[in-house]
Amino acid sequence: MAGQRAQWGSRLGFILAAAGSAVGLGNIWKFPYITGENGGGLFVLIYLACIALVGLPIMMAEIFIGRATQSSPVGAFRKLSKPRSPWMGIGWMGVVVAFIILSYYSVVAGWAMHYTWISLTDSFTGKSPEEIGNTFTALFESAKLNLFWHTLFMAITIAIVMGGIRRGIELCSKILMPTLFLLLLILLAYAMTTDGFGKAFSFLFAPNADKLTSAGVLEALGHSFFTLSLGMGAMITYGSYLKSKDDIVAASITVSVLDTAVALIACLVLFPIIFTVGREPSAGPGLVFVSIPIAFAQMPGGAILAPLFFILLTFAALTSAISLLEVAVSYFIDERGWSRAKATLTCGISILVVGIPSALSGGTKFFGEQFQTLTSYLRINDGEGFNWFDFFDYVATNWMLPIGGLGIALFAAWRVGNKAREEGFKAGTRFGKLYWGWVFLLRYIVPIAVLLVFLNAIGVLDILGVTSDDAN
Ligand code: PFF
Repeated sequence: MAGQRAQWGSRLGFILAAAGSAVGLGNIWKFPYITGENGGGLFVLIYLACIALVGLPIMMAEIFIGRATQSSPVGAFRKLSKPRSPWMGIGWMGVVVAFIILSYYSVVAGWAMHYTWISLTDSFTGKSPEEIGNTFTALFESAKLNLFWHTLFMAITIAIVMGGIRRGIELCSKILMPTLFLLLLILLAYAMTTDGFGKAFSFLFAPNADKLTSAGVLEALGHSFFTLSLGMGAMITYGSYLKSKDDIVAASITVSVLDTAVALIACLVLFPIIFTVGREPSAGPGLVFVSIPIAFAQMPGGAILAPLFFILLTFAALTSAISLLEVAVSYFIDERGWSRAKATLTCGISILVVGIPSALSGGTKFFGEQFQTLTSYLRINDGEGFNWFDFFDYVATNWMLPIGGLGIALFAAWRVGNKAREEGFKAGTRFGKLYWGWVFLLRYIVPIAVLLVFLNAIGVLDILGVTSDDAN
């Protein structure tokens, strides 16, 4: 713990870094396809409610905990409770989740890089839908390609985090995030000129309940944790580099609004393109990697738009990946006294290794099919099982993040002393009046909502007949 702890250079730098963490594959890859699968409209409305009532209060709680303690999560829980407190377990879990999520996140980010490369060198233009579909299958099954891009992506992430808070993470966010917004707006402007824009707009905003099930409602809630980077201490860690006068309420609102705006705009970019070429938005995870290249191949200007889109996706993934790595790195720096270089290299290389099974999930029988058979025996995923990659995603997103988020909410709302909590919330903000609303949401609404996610995940709601799965 020697030496002065790092801090952000500016308020804007923090906002861009936190928004960079939040805006990622979750917004541009995952949100559009789950919205498509759940029929748009009403799902979007429920998602917005989850962000406002569950996500936003937890984000404020995380940044509050980080800023108040100037510590990464494990130390933060210790400082606000007592040494050896069981609450520290939430911090520990965050470090483990960072390893898990980044290990497969980097594989998908690698796909985005591969697609950037193909769209720049070979282009999708003139290719048939079958050829483009085969490109994705070939990538998914290729051990060599997956390992190559996974390694390259991790190397870049490591290099940035090694640069430290100001000269690594903040600088990179200040360059990548504005570029990302600009690229998104260029693509939006294009999407607005296509025939499918009107249809996409009403698909997204007309409250259509056709395909929505209660499972979809819970998916919206689970996704609100992932998309805002909550439940594993990423925002505690970023908050810990804030000065005590910074306004955490305004910052949390700004980051949540930016994150939501990017997710919605991503849909307004992707759906019109999909509709224009007569395809459906319910294509699942292949939406971005199969349907979109197919659409670009058929559209005027597609040869230019495709690389722009995949660069955007890569940048979004990179600024999220650095926050995941920073959670693990900050633990070793703060708690074990390691140098940043040692912590970054050790964590980064370990994550690279942990990600190998995910990178091989599509190609080897063991991490794909046989692992799937094994997990199906355990009746995971309704007995269908998972490959390694999906298994990590399932465990981290559906279980560990909501458990962490619940723990953080309960800790901030019930365990932290009233005085410390109120002063911490109000310091530096003009939104002091929201204090009791925040506490109320953390105390009651967040726990009830998370409990529902769990009851659904273990099938209790099915047994009670509350959920129906006909949309999936
Ligand atoms: N929020 C990121 C996304 O939407 O892609 C994913 C993520 C990043 C989750 C950082 C958790 C985290 F700590």
